[in-house]
Parts: sequence; structure tokens; C-alpha cells
Amino acid sequence: MNTNLSSYFIFIAVFGLLGVCHGQLRMHFYEESCPHAEEIVKEIIWNRVASNSTLPAKFLRMHFHDCFVRGCDGSILIDSTQNNLAEKAAVPNLSLAGFDIIDEVKTELENTCPGVVSCADIVALAARDSVSYQFQRPIWDVLTGRRDGIISRQSEALANIPSPFFNFTTLKQSFANKSLTVHDLVVLSGGHTIGVGHCNFFSERLYNFTGKNDENDEDPSLNSTYDAFLKTQCKSLSNNVTTVPMDPGSPLSFDNNYFNILKQNEGLFQSDAALLTDSEATYNVNELLNSQNFFTEFAQSIMKMGAIQVLTGSSGEIRKNCSVVNP
Ligand code: HEM
Ligand SMILES: *[C@@H]1O[C@H](CO)[C@@H](O)[C@H](O)[C@H]1NC(C)=O
Ligand SMILES: *[C@@H]1O[C@H](CO)[C@@H](O)[C@H](O)[C@H]1NC(C)=O
Ligand SMILES: *[C@@H]1O[C@H](CO)[C@@H](O)[C@H](O)[C@H]1NC(C)=O
Ligand SMILES: *[C@@H]1O[C@H](CO)[C@@H](O)[C@H](O)[C@H]1NC(C)=O
Ligand SMILES: *[C@@H]1O[C@H](CO)[C@@H](O)[C@H](O)[C@H]1NC(C)=O
Ligand SMILES: *[C@@H]1O[C@H](CO)[C@@H](O)[C@H](O)[C@H]1NC(C)=O
Ligand SMILES: *[C@@H]1O[C@H](CO)[C@@H](O)[C@H](O)[C@H]1NC(C)=O
Ligand SMILES: *[C@@H]1O[C@H](CO)[C@@H](O)[C@H](O)[C@H]1NC(C)=O
Repeated sequence: MNTNLSSYFIFIAVFGLLGVCHGQLRMHFYEESCPHAEEIVKEIIWNRVASNSTLPAKFLRMHFHDCFVRGCDGSILIDSTQNNLAEKAAVPNLSLAGFDIIDEVKTELENTCPGVVSCADIVALAARDSVSYQFQRPIWDVLTGRRDGIISRQSEALANIPSPFFNFTTLKQSFANKSLTVHDLVVLSGGHTIGVGHCNFFSERLYNFTGKNDENDEDPSLNSTYDAFLKTQCKSLSNNVTTVPMDPGSPLSFDNNYFNILKQNEGLFQSDAALLTDSEATYNVNELLNSQNFFTEFAQSIMKMGAIQVLTGSSGEIRKNCSVVNP
């Protein structure tokens, strides 16, 4: 064997090993094992979104919650059992939805190529495809090859999902725990450009900011016009039923308007407003007022989020039914 050829083999061997060691995800992981997998996901998701425009927010948030608890391993989909309270049962689960559609996709994939496509990948693809429907083309790449976890605990969801009452320090810590930077925190908070929030997650900012519990006890960092509007929607501290859009101008449109409203002090949660209390984060907010920057950077940060602590290779399993671990 000549030296060129053997160094070629060494090159392949080293990079092959690196691939295995890093357990990397890759583009079109199912190209050979289930060639139509990604199309099947897209077709079902686009069909559903076409008749229900609130779904992109559900799938985007589902992906976030999945990845922040034990990595992106589909554990958010597992139902509680007699012996185990699952992630789904945690308080931040309010308004998590779309599980039935994930099941529908899974059933179709099991019919086409049984035991091949993970629930974790379906969640990641559903987030991308649902948000992308508006543009009729994929707006970020989704690497695939995730495998499914077998553990889902309510307590871990409570410990790992950041709270809307967090300040900048705890938000930064929560993202750093997942190897995400302040830049990722700001960019990904832009996910709040779609969807709704329940009153009880922010009404302390309207009625009880310093503990006085009256209608003049509002958060001084909240825009007063917006405060007055929110008070008309959320009439008491205990209202956990009513929702308001997080980006009132365009709640169904995935765009960078979240950053415009944030600058007008109209971020809905304390965790949104907190981004303006740090100079690095504020710098990032300003940068994201440019729409092109937002789309480019969101694509990068959500790919990072989609790789948090993933199971690959022979770790975990390919669940047969997304709501239960394999028997
Ligand atoms: C930075 C820390 C974050 C906090 C504290 C937070 C908190 C929340 C809360 C409290 C809600 C309202 C839930 C409800 O009332 O039902 C919400 C909704 C939502 N969040 Fe976040 N979130 C954060 C980051 C993210 C990220 C990174 C994404 C995705 C990239 C995301 C996407 C969404 C979406 C799309 C909704 C709307 C859900 C719907 O309409 O049903 N959030 N978030
Ligand atoms: C959310 O948790 C509550 C209990 O805290 C539970 O009754 C409800 O079914 C859960 N929602 C989902 C979608 O699992
Ligand atoms: C849209 O989907 C959400 C989440 O599953 C559901 O609560 C809502 O009822 C659906 N709306 C329509 C019009 O089907
Ligand atoms: C942020 O919140 C944490 C936990 O509640 C608290 O210990 C810390 O003092 C707060 N930091 C600031 C700057 O308010
Ligand atoms: C970050 O992780 C550490 C260690 O797991 C944990 O104690 C801490 O509560 C986490 N912080 C946040 C804000 O999630
Ligand atoms: C108002 O805030 C104070 C201090 O945080 C708290 O002790 C009190 O329970 C709150 N009041 C209501 C009605 O939630
Ligand atoms: C909303 O509040 C009511 C009354 O306090 C409580 O019974 C109910 O469980 C709460 N619902 C949710 C989804 O938190
Ligand atoms: C409050 O919001 C209005 C638009 O609703 C905006 O014109 C105004 O500048 C904002 N005020 C502050 C202090 O951000
Ligand atoms: C998946 O498991 C759940 C919970 O056991 C069950 O209700 C559901 O019918 C199963 N779905 C399929 C497609 O077998």
C-alpha cells in the first residue's frame, strides 16, 4: 500500500472514530433506513398547521421543553404511570399540546419503517416544519439520529425548565447549564414571537410587584400603556385561564417583532424584560432588530439547542409508541 493510500485510510479511521465518539447527529440520518421519513413528518405537520395556526407555537415550545430536560430525547412525550410522575405532569406544562399529532406521525412512520425513526427526532422535525409552514420552506436545518430516552420525571422538569419569574442571573445560569450562551438565550427567547401566555405567569407584574397587592403595584419596567391593556385581560392575580399573545402585533407570525416590542418595554414575562437588564444581552437584542440577523442566528441557536445531551448510536431506544417506553 503506498503512503498516500494508507494516510487516506488513517484519515478515514480517525474521522470515523471521531464521528462515533462525538455521537454526532447528521443531516438526513434516515436517508437509507427510511428514505421518506422527513417528508412524512413534513406532510402531516403542514396539513395540521394549515387548519390550525396555533400549532407552531405548541411544537416549538415542546422541542424546547424536551431538550432542557435530560436532553432532546423525546422524554417530554412519555405519560405518567402509577409509579412515576412524568415531565408532562409538571406545572410548566400548561398549554403543552400537539401530542396527538406527534402520535399520528409516529403511527405513520411505524407503518412505513417500523422501529426506525425516534420520537425525539419527530419532535425536532415537527418544531422546524410547523414554524416553517408560513414560509413554505424549511427555515433551519434539523440534524437527525437522536434516540429516545427511557426516563421522564416531573421533578427534573421543575428543576430544568426556566421560570418566567427568573431574573437575568438565573436565566443565564439555566442556559449555561445546557452549554448555551447569553447570545443563545436572547436569540431563542425570540421564540416568544409566536404563541400565548397565561395571566398567572405575569399578573404579579400588574398587581403585586412589590407585595402590596393592589392595582397600582405594577412592575415599573412594564410599559404603562401595555400594563393598562393587560389589566383589561387579566382581572385578578389568580386567573390561570385567560391567555394573551406574547407578540401582540403578530402572534401567529414567526418574525423578529418580539425584539421590537421588548425594546418598548412590552415583554410579557419578567424573564423577557430581564433581557434588558444586562448590557451584553441588550446588545444582542439590538442586533436582532435586524430581521436577517434574527433568522440567521435563530437557525444557529436552535440547532445548538437541538443537540443538547442527545442520545445517539446504541444509547437509549427507538420507542414504538411515543407515550410509553418500550416494554
Ligand atoms: C428563556 C427562558 C424561557 C422562559 C422563562 C419561558 C417561559 C414561557 C412561559 C411561561 C410561557 C407561557 C406558557 C403558558 O402560559 O401556557 C411560554 C410560552 C412559549 N414559549 Fe417560552 N420560555 C422561555 C424560552 C423559550 C424558548 C427558548 C422557546 C423556543 C425557542 C420558547 C417558546 C415558547 C413558545 C412558542 C410559547 C407559546 C406556547 C403556546 O402558545 O402555547 N420559550 N414560555
Ligand atoms: C399537566 O399537569 C397536570 C397536573 O399538574 C395534569 O393534570 C395535566 O394532564 C398535564 N398536562 C398534560 C398535557 O399532560
Ligand atoms: C388547535 O390546536 C390546539 C392545540 O392542540 C387545540 O387546543 C385547539 O383546539 C385547536 N384549534 C382548532 C380550531 O382545532
Ligand atoms: C436573581 O434571583 C436569584 C434567585 O431568586 C437571587 O438569589 C438573586 O439575588 C437575583 N439577582 C438579582 C440581581 O436580582
Ligand atoms: C444549574 O445546574 C445546577 C447543577 O445541576 C443546579 O443546581 C442549578 O439549579 C441549575 N440552575 C438553573 C438556574 O437551572
Ligand atoms: C403578593 O406578593 C407577596 C410578596 O411576594 C406575597 O407574599 C403575597 O402572597 C402575594 N399576594 C397574592 C394575593 O398572591
Ligand atoms: C387554576 O386555579 C384553580 C383555582 O385556584 C385550580 O383549582 C386549578 O387547578 C388551576 N388550574 C391550573 C391548570 O393550574
Ligand atoms: C410604550 O408602548 C408604546 C406603543 O404601544 C410606545 O409608543 C412607547 O414608546 C412605549 N413606552 C416606553 C416607555 O417604552
Ligand atoms: C400508546 O400508548 C398509550 C398509553 O398506553 C395508548 O393509550 C395508545 O393507544 C398507544 N398508541 C398506539 C398507537 O398504540
